[in-house]
Amino acid sequence: MTVAAGRWITLEGGDGSGKSTQAALLTEWLEESGRTALRTREPGGSEVGRLIRDIVLHHRGEIAPRAEALLYAADRAHHVATVVRPALERGDIVVQDRYLDSSVAYQGAGRVLDATEVRDLSLWATQGALPDLTVLLDLDPSTARRRLDADDKPFDRLEAEKEDFHARVRRAFLQLAAAEPQRFLVVDAGADADDIAVLIRARVALLL
Ligand code: TYD
Repeated sequence: MTVAAGRWITLEGGDGSGKSTQAALLTEWLEESGRTALRTREPGGSEVGRLIRDIVLHHRGEIAPRAEALLYAADRAHHVATVVRPALERGDIVVQDRYLDSSVAYQGAGRVLDATEVRDLSLWATQGALPDLTVLLDLDPSTARRRLDADDKPFDRLEAEKEDFHARVRRAFLQLAAAEPQRFLVVDAGADADDIAVLIRARVALLL
């Protein structure tokens, strides 16, 4: 996708890696420096997406892996078409919690579907839209699990998966980052949140 004036930043990482905190800090910093920033997320960044989010995260019982991949891709197709693309065309900076790398990591490595097929499905869904920058918050799954436990929220379908699922997801994210070093910034999510925010701002500043 050729984007007119805006910039598109996605945050990726395992559950409990602190993406939401960093998305909030980055959006705040962009707005304080006079930019128009749109904070959004997948799944659930649109009205249709919120319905899909409820299915993929809270359905009781099994969802076939390919159906799960299609649900995330459907959320993504609608979100990019109705929220992300219009914002980028207006010249906004889109700060997005999760995008197609999550599908490659969770549905590909986690559910063991073919990574290239999963990626191609999302690229078809979004007419090839790729972010300008993807920040990977890398954290070992046992630390992430301790954080989630401390949170005291009930686990969703994906969070409830076992540690080896989350270990595969982490490895897949790191492989994606290694394959596209120009798009990714990898940060140690075990570091202090304010220190991470400084690293992210420095990289984002290069984009603006
Ligand atoms: P997220 O919104 O980050 O969860 P939370 O609100 O608990 O912070 O993501 C929801 C879950 O969906 C997360 O476990 C990862 C999973 N997911 C996929 O499996 N595939 C995808 O393509 C996306 C975007 C998310």
